[in-house]
Amino acid sequence: MPKVVECITEMRKVVAEARLAGKTIGFVPTMGALHEGHMTLVREAKKVCDVVVVSIFINPTQFGPNEDFDAYPRTWAEDLNACRSAGVDVVFHPHVHEMYPDNWGTWVTVEDVTDKLCGKSRPIHFRGVATVVTKLLNIVQPDKAFFGQKDAQQVVVLKKMVRDLNMPYEIVMVPIVRDVDGLAKSSRNVYLNSEQRQAALVLYKSLCKAQELCRSGEPDSRKIREAVIACIESVSLAKIDYVEIYSFPDLADIDTLDQDALLAVAVKFGTTRLIDNTILKSNHICGG
Ligand code: PAF
Repeated sequence: MPKVVECITEMRKVVAEARLAGKTIGFVPTMGALHEGHMTLVREAKKVCDVVVVSIFINPTQFGPNEDFDAYPRTWAEDLNACRSAGVDVVFHPHVHEMYPDNWGTWVTVEDVTDKLCGKSRPIHFRGVATVVTKLLNIVQPDKAFFGQKDAQQVVVLKKMVRDLNMPYEIVMVPIVRDVDGLAKSSRNVYLNSEQRQAALVLYKSLCKAQELCRSGEPDSRKIREAVIACIESVSLAKIDYVEIYSFPDLADIDTLDQDALLAVAVKFGTTRLIDNTILKSNHICGG
């Protein structure tokens, strides 16, 4: 069984002992409801680090007032079991008051890359993510922290944050993990009924459509975006929040695919909002 740590002082002690023994630390921050995507992050961490710490903390500050904080799946026993099977060394599982004591009041805000995509639909989301990840990184002090490409904007935000604030941690992005039918693994997939889950396959289908267009040499990002929108709109249960293409990793506006570009989509199926993405190059798709 992994060592379960609930308090910050003890977490620091465990990490300090590992460091004293000359070990490197890999860190996988999560909100629990662990799935194969998280386990892939753990495997990547285990490949390159001696000790792997997983945090399980449903961070209230990254949910807006009408979002799914209360409904977010809480599966502690299964999560712990998954960590055990994956060979995780330490699970950091702080109480909300441990992370946000009564007199707490400091935020980390990352500018420019947070005002688009999910940042537009979820205005306080990235402030909450940047703040909690800063706190977690300061507590665990890993050599490397691992995040999934499914939340590509989150990776962009966190890479910018550690660079801008001179934080000595490497942010590693790990490719998206999908079910066999193409649906990207997500803790929120459990909200979908079978009809919605079937409809949600259009996300991957639309990304593949974009991939095809790129491979056939289409350089115009507007045309690719329109084709993706048409594909998603062909499914009546799908309600688009956004379909956007930006340069990657800067997230700047682009017209032509003459550099790496992020095609990112957010679509609602019933009340469940799913995101997915792929990284496009002219005549070539990589990742996702
Ligand atoms: O990606 C997530 O699960 C969360 O945003 C993170 C990074 C664990 C911060 O709460």
